[in-house]
Amino acid sequence: MAANTHRLIVALDVSSAAAAQKIVTSLGESVHIYKVGMQLYTAEGPQVVRDLVGSGRQVFLDLKYHDIPNTVASVVREAAQLGVSMLTGGAKMLRAAVEAAGPKSLKILAVTVLTSMDESELQQTGVSGNLVDQVLRLASTALDAGCAGVVSSAREVRALRAKLGHNFLIVNPGVRPAGADHGDQARVVTPSEAIQAGATHIVVGRPITAAKDPASAARAIQQEINAAAEQTAKDSSPHVTSAY
Ligand code: C5P
Repeated sequence: MAANTHRLIVALDVSSAAAAQKIVTSLGESVHIYKVGMQLYTAEGPQVVRDLVGSGRQVFLDLKYHDIPNTVASVVREAAQLGVSMLTGGAKMLRAAVEAAGPKSLKILAVTVLTSMDESELQQTGVSGNLVDQVLRLASTALDAGCAGVVSSAREVRALRAKLGHNFLIVNPGVRPAGADHGDQARVVTPSEAIQAGATHIVVGRPITAAKDPASAARAIQQEINAAAEQTAKDSSPHVTSAY
């Protein structure tokens, strides 16, 4: 199993490479995986990814690729060239993405239902039935397509583990330390709830990047991850083994 320090992913949702670099520098060795999403990538392009990879960090490129399979496959090959470790996509193009990633260490993650969505919003998109069933359905399709894992809310993790097993990554955004502002997130849980439920990774943005002292906010979350992981190991549940 990878060290618990590799289970915290910090979302660099800022508008410049300089602002991203400031956060990365302030977090030092306490964080190894950074998520580059639409805001930073649109502002700065691939150089920001190259710089992070060049400095020894892992990059989760969260651009949620959703296009025809041929286009997604081409984009995935470009991301692999950049040295990206994880990236996100959805629906039918996933198999093309997995094939384009090849046997390299690039992991394709499928986005299930956004953590900012609640049940009524999901139903407005035309999905009937409940939200957990929709997450399970999408996750099952993604794993059949060969994806390394899924992005979901931690609220669905126990159902995912029960139905689909333990041999895949579950990455949870929408994580908030107790008492933190929820912002636009709807299906929120704490770091320890996510880890205890069976998440392999958690994504945290604003509670770290907008904190007065990002390093101490990251340390506190890291401690919470460590304590939850120890507790989970003591409970000797079979969670998260070879999925790393
Ligand atoms: O600041 P906050 O902790 O809410 O950031 C969460 C990050 O995770 C954002 O970059 C958001 O785009 C991303 N994300 C999410 N829900 C998903 C997939 C990605 O919140 N299902």
